Amino acid sequence: MTNSSPHSPAFDTASLAASVVQACRHLAEFTETPGSTKRTFLSLPMRDAHAYLRVWMERLGMAVRVDAAGNLRGVYAGHGGSAQRLIIGSHIDTVPNAGAFDGVLGVVLGLALVESLAGRRMHFAIEVVAFSEEEGVRFAMPFIGSRALVGDLDEASLATRDAAGTTVRQAIADFGLDAALLPDAVAGADVFGYIEFHIEQGPVLEDLGLKVAVVRAIAGQTRLKISFKGKANHAGATPMRLRRDALAGAAEWMVAVESKAKATPGLVATVGWIEAMPGAANVIPDEVALSLDVRHANDEARLLGVKSVLDIAQSIAAERGLAFSSITTLDQPAVAMDAKLSAGLEDAMRLAGEPVHRMTSGAGHDAMGMARAVPSAMLFLRSPGGISHHPDEDVSVGDVEAALNVGSRFLQSIDAL
Ligand code: HGY
Ligand code: MN
Ligand code: MN
Repeated sequence: MTNSSPHSPAFDTASLAASVVQACRHLAEFTETPGSTKRTFLSLPMRDAHAYLRVWMERLGMAVRVDAAGNLRGVYAGHGGSAQRLIIGSHIDTVPNAGAFDGVLGVVLGLALVESLAGRRMHFAIEVVAFSEEEGVRFAMPFIGSRALVGDLDEASLATRDAAGTTVRQAIADFGLDAALLPDAVAGADVFGYIEFHIEQGPVLEDLGLKVAVVRAIAGQTRLKISFKGKANHAGATPMRLRRDALAGAAEWMVAVESKAKATPGLVATVGWIEAMPGAANVIPDEVALSLDVRHANDEARLLGVKSVLDIAQSIAAERGLAFSSITTLDQPAVAMDAKLSAGLEDAMRLAGEPVHRMTSGAGHDAMGMARAVPSAMLFLRSPGGISHHPDEDVSVGDVEAALNVGSRFLQSIDAL
């Protein structure tokens, strides 16, 4: 795939919006799995994505670097070498069989906003950051990219291994980077804010007939690795009453998890993957590993939900003579977005003629981590069909145009401060 640089500069928002959508679809072709989109932490296609975005960044006159966590970063200087910096960013890694807009749209839209300045300099620098990892696909550990900007990638994180046994530290070295330079990735005191444009990934804005919305808060999430262990035996010779079938136990529990989430307002729970061992059709599974993802806008409700489904697992395991265990791989509290920056986005929405709507995000975002270090805010764009983490994920040019109008008014309002 040639890394043709994006289309010739287009400054009216309609054609700029069209070029944003086109650029996202082009980036989706940089994949580990030809025919579908999958781009994980520091994989080879990430190099292609970097090369494509770098051409655009350099054409905009940005100072471009890749930091030690593999984040591609372009800084558009403010006039007079201003000391303040605004970061606009999102992630460019994807889930398997992904759509073209989750994460990527926030980076491309940031570059389009810089493009729309047509060389004009603001009283602050704008840094567009393409985070290297947010989904947690390769290492079952999300937010590696944004964690580097808040100085949170500790030794244990760097020692985390992927399915092939490669550590995060080694993956960084394999990409030609040096983990020893991670301190240089930290967002400094000059950063006064972080803005993330992102697709909603759900049905709310479509249902309301709105193009954009301000994110009030991001739901907290708990991710766990679950294990049920029983006893392997012959599928034909073992009477049902004498079995300790780990997969049957896990199946009973998964249905109980779904029932619990359905019965608890605002709680969502998902088993995303499951593996039964030894994995032969004629052997009763003796070990099952599976994931669990639990989310709620309220942390107490989320933690109560997690405790409840783990208690249910214990009682099912006891009933069936199985051993149950779980490891929490992520305990991410809900995060409120910055009130002042959000109010700025809302004012910009009004100026752009967009109805102001505030909502909570069920999906996690880099803004969750960034909010620990800098005031952070998010603008959602409508997800046609309410679908995401799927090839049908989409965004309309008209909604991108609305987001560009809001974003450019937001930048102007800060510049006028
Ligand atoms: O899983 C999430 O919420 C996000 O898409 N990483
Ligand atoms: Mn995602
Ligand atoms: Mn995302």
